[in-house]
Amino acid sequence: MQKFDIIVIGGGPGGYVCAIRAAQLGLKVALAEKVPHLGGTCLNVGCIPSKALLHSTELYQQALHGKSHGLVVSEVRMEVSGLMERKNKVVEQLRTGVKTLVAKRGIEVFYGEASFVDAKTVQVASGKEPVQLQADNIVIATGSVPVELPFLPFDEKDILSSTGALKLDRVPSSMVVVGAGAIGLEMGSVWARLGTEVTVVEFLPNIAAGSDDDVSKLAERIFKKQGLKFNTETKVTGVTRTEKGLLELQAERKGKAVTFIAEKILVSVGRKPYTEGLNLSAAGLTTDSKGRIPVKELRTSVPGIWAIGDVVEGPMLAHKAEEDGVAAAEWIAGKHAHLDYSLVPNVIYTHPEIAAVGLTEKQAKDKGLDFKVGKFQLVANGRAIAQDATDGMAKVIACSKTDRILGVAIIGAGASEMIASAVAHMTYGGSAEDLGKTVHAHPTISESLKEAALAVDKAAIHGL
Ligand code: NAI
Repeated sequence: MQKFDIIVIGGGPGGYVCAIRAAQLGLKVALAEKVPHLGGTCLNVGCIPSKALLHSTELYQQALHGKSHGLVVSEVRMEVSGLMERKNKVVEQLRTGVKTLVAKRGIEVFYGEASFVDAKTVQVASGKEPVQLQADNIVIATGSVPVELPFLPFDEKDILSSTGALKLDRVPSSMVVVGAGAIGLEMGSVWARLGTEVTVVEFLPNIAAGSDDDVSKLAERIFKKQGLKFNTETKVTGVTRTEKGLLELQAERKGKAVTFIAEKILVSVGRKPYTEGLNLSAAGLTTDSKGRIPVKELRTSVPGIWAIGDVVEGPMLAHKAEEDGVAAAEWIAGKHAHLDYSLVPNVIYTHPEIAAVGLTEKQAKDKGLDFKVGKFQLVANGRAIAQDATDGMAKVIACSKTDRILGVAIIGAGASEMIASAVAHMTYGGSAEDLGKTVHAHPTISESLKEAALAVDKAAIHGL
């Protein structure tokens, strides 16, 4: 039996960050990970590889459409093997980076499936003898897995989850994407840019559900121009194979049957918490109706057992899991920590990117708040014109009485970077006037955020 101050189960962005913070605070840390590398879904089969593919395919599109810039290339071709090789290298580099960080902090990593023996003991089963670890504090950071529709089981060959969609070895002729959320829009964009005919089927009336209505409507218009087809308010019901070996997806739109034929189907209808094999009952733990481990400030109902990231309530996002990880480590080390999920930014890394924080206009309305809205279109931004990036807008929602910013939504090139300043202003209780008076470098697309803040009081300089 090996003794530690803290055992972290799961080496994703929640778990490894928690382990590093705990080690920084002087605790003796064990980190258990089921697969032979750290980084979890985000680094290995999620955020990072998808961003690598998005970047490469964006370069491809720029090369294809460079003529108006005077760019002359005789042949532009994407070799899928090269595309995947680079993506794999990016993942490998980060795996090594995380492994090094963890090793340098003196964290002991146990590779193998971890399960509870009791509330203070965890067993890690690898190929060799299982090892037993003991600690007064155990943090569950086992993440989530893609939701499977019962009639569309993943085979990762033709019916794909995000994992399969990240490693196709050739460009499919057609793909139906079920679910117009972050994964559907990002992976749909990747394959559409390479020539796949992509049809997106979405249950709700809007794509990028959860986004501000102005943004999701504009996003749909822009993505349509890029060749994606959208079928909203459409519910998928089944699948069959055609004589030609293609997949025929059955669906229903406003009571009418519709079908979609494609070579591949990507199912991206959300993710669910992953606790399989953990033997939670041995520790006295249960999950709720959504499969999450109930927590209060990351503490489970069993003293000394904590749960963080996708396996608990809150947005299923890597950066939220990281913040949970830091907070859990600090609480365990007896320090003060703070969590505020209302200011977790959300980004979809399409082109243009979609980024938001705080309330949408509809949420502000539904809450009965008295608010003002400022908008700025990127078509009036000099930098956006200079770099062919005029598709997009920034929107700021502020309290009518106090001017405090309640929400920000941006669709535009670089929105994922721009949203950070909105989060910072909101974290410190900033007003639209504060943001409008903050000096932004010229020319930058971020000036559109400043202008949207000024527009709250009808003071945008370059907007009408
Ligand atoms: P999601 O929850 O973002 O979107 C799923 C979409 O599928 C929703 O619009 C939903 O209405 C639709 N849907 C559900 N059932 C359906 C059905 N039967 N037929 C048609 N449409 C249906 O889930 P997604 O895209 O799978 O992502 C999973 C998780 O991973 C999310 O929490 C997401 O935030 C996170 N993620 C975040 C990324 C980012 O931050 N850029 C990138 C990828 C994933």
